[in-house]
Amino acid sequence: AWQVQSMADRFSDSFPIGAAVEPWQLNGKQGKILKHHYNSIVAENAMKPISLQPEEGVWDWEGADRIADFARKHDMELRFHTLVWHNQVPDWFFLDEDGSPMVDETDEAKREANKKLLLERLDTHIETVVDRYKDVVTAWDVVNEAIDDGGGLRETAWYQITGTDYIKTAFESAREHAGDDAMLYLNDYNTEVPSKRDDLYDLVTDLLEDDVPVDGIGHQAHIQIDWPSIEDTRESFELFTELGLDNQVTELDVSLYGWPPDNAYATYDEIPDSLYDEQADRYAEIFSLYEELDADISSVTFWGIADNHTWLDDRAEQYSGTGVDAPFVFDENYRVKPAFWRMMDER
Ligand code: G3I
Repeated sequence: AWQVQSMADRFSDSFPIGAAVEPWQLNGKQGKILKHHYNSIVAENAMKPISLQPEEGVWDWEGADRIADFARKHDMELRFHTLVWHNQVPDWFFLDEDGSPMVDETDEAKREANKKLLLERLDTHIETVVDRYKDVVTAWDVVNEAIDDGGGLRETAWYQITGTDYIKTAFESAREHAGDDAMLYLNDYNTEVPSKRDDLYDLVTDLLEDDVPVDGIGHQAHIQIDWPSIEDTRESFELFTELGLDNQVTELDVSLYGWPPDNAYATYDEIPDSLYDEQADRYAEIFSLYEELDADISSVTFWGIADNHTWLDDRAEQYSGTGVDAPFVFDENYRVKPAFWRMMDER
């Protein structure tokens, strides 16, 4: 995979090409692919709150530092994922001074005190992390997945305890510590789905009216071969661009399966060539759109490198009992797939 034309070179006029990585993927063949094909990286898990601050005031920088050092050394952009999320955040954030869950508190005065404490913890987390990595980070996922698929804001512990103040505090703290030039994103999945896109639009317009420093939308783009439509995808980029916001594609992968993925193939050998060809067409279509809208899209990142390591395998297993997915342009042995050639086509 490192002998063919580089993806980063191919798209250098349009946007950097990124990959999500675990620290152990920086060496060997995957390291070679990273250096050849990508000019941006993001930590798949190593920079989430549970990885960085598993206990209050106890920091674990090992994996995150290795990824940041790789970006510095090889002059790559680093996307930071993620300052705030409802998953992979340790429980201690949400326990009051007595060790009881803040969400259960009914006393008004204590609820106020808990809210203050939680926002202070958030600010401390952000200040510490931002100071350590701001020299190399080019884009910050400040808040991840704040919108509920069923409508409105997701009723996480963050939301139950602080309302939308956690979003405000997170962006203000990131701005204060990372500086005026830092690029700050609200990141979410299914941003192409009109109802969810509109909820995200409502949230971000409220935030902007309130002078909350949001710079852009991160579109995760965990997509499928037939879904979402290219029209909905285009409309989503255009809508946020009209608001004056930047767009980044932050977690791209093209699953071979529909929803739910309950018919996954058990092994790579069983996956028909025709399905890989359909996936290749999809990659051609989506990259044509990205190139056409390149003025509105400042970065495109895959949520992994090659088919041998993808969160979609866990999802396939969960719904099909057993199974593999193969969402990338490099196969499980790091060979280029039909999708690679189609996305690289000159248009
Ligand atoms: O590190 C532990 C290990 O010690 C333990 O033995 C093992 C047992 O299950 O778990 C390991 O943690 C796993 C972790 O990945 C690291 O491999 C977690 O169980 C597993 O849940 C976690 O999954 C991650 C998932 O986020 C968590 O929700 C995926 O790798 C990661 O790709 C995925 O990424 C998310 C983005 O952050 C946000 N957008 C959606 C995307 C896909 O779900």
